Amino acid sequence: MSDVKPAPTQCVGPLYRSESQKPTAAVSTGVEFDTVTILPQTPQLIALLSIIRDKNTQRGDFIFYSNRIIRLLVEEGLNHLPTVEHTVTTPVGRPYDGLSFQGKICGVSIMRAGEAMEQGLRECCRSVRIGKILIQRDEESARPKLFYDKLPEDIADRWVLLLDPMLATGGSAIMAVDVLKSRGVPEERILFLNVLASPQGIQNFATKFPKLRLVTAFVDQGLDEKNYIIPGLGDFGDRYYTM
Ligand code: PRP
Ligand code: URA
Repeated sequence: MSDVKPAPTQCVGPLYRSESQKPTAAVSTGVEFDTVTILPQTPQLIALLSIIRDKNTQRGDFIFYSNRIIRLLVEEGLNHLPTVEHTVTTPVGRPYDGLSFQGKICGVSIMRAGEAMEQGLRECCRSVRIGKILIQRDEESARPKLFYDKLPEDIADRWVLLLDPMLATGGSAIMAVDVLKSRGVPEERILFLNVLASPQGIQNFATKFPKLRLVTAFVDQGLDEKNYIIPGLGDFGDRYYTM
């Protein structure tokens, strides 16, 4: 087992409640990278994560509650896309000085687990184009292997929302970004959306790609001897698709 840090704990709940009125829970480990955004550790998020982490949670609930977390991630991710000032006229003839999104986007999922995040992206971004990269970790060595990719032809002109719920060693996500960069997507136009990360995965990924923004729901304590995230949630792809 590699370097495992103790989980930080915190009273979780709204600011208007006193500490004694709030339950204590294990919250995300902090990270030192400005490019990494961790979702606010709200009671809702912690309760949703507790369900999907529970080994007794059955597949139907795992899918439902993972989808809820994915939706929160997509909503936060969209805040990191560029916007420009945009004034509209309301039905009562008054101007409203608002914003509009600037530029085209697409999603790219790392198969298979990343495909579970496509629906959440589609719910927020109607008819969004989605590319796929099939990378699988070798079960013994945990080394990633690239099998296939199919990406929008004009991907170099788009912002890319890279989708994978698990960042363990970081090998798969790093390989996926290398594919995107080889197709002309600049690092600063990639936004990686991730449910659960290890500190080692964050360190490897954020060091390699200092301009790439990563949004995660939670950074866990470490990796076990098989390079699974701990305490983790097990194999996301198996629990979402086959168990
Ligand atoms: C899982 C996960 C990531 C990868 C993370 O995929 O979805 O892609 O492992 O591990 P890493 O950071 O050490 O590379 P896996 O290869 O098990 O395939 P799956 O999506 O089909 O389950
Ligand atoms: N892939 C998973 O699904 N879970 C882990 O903990 C690590 C890689």
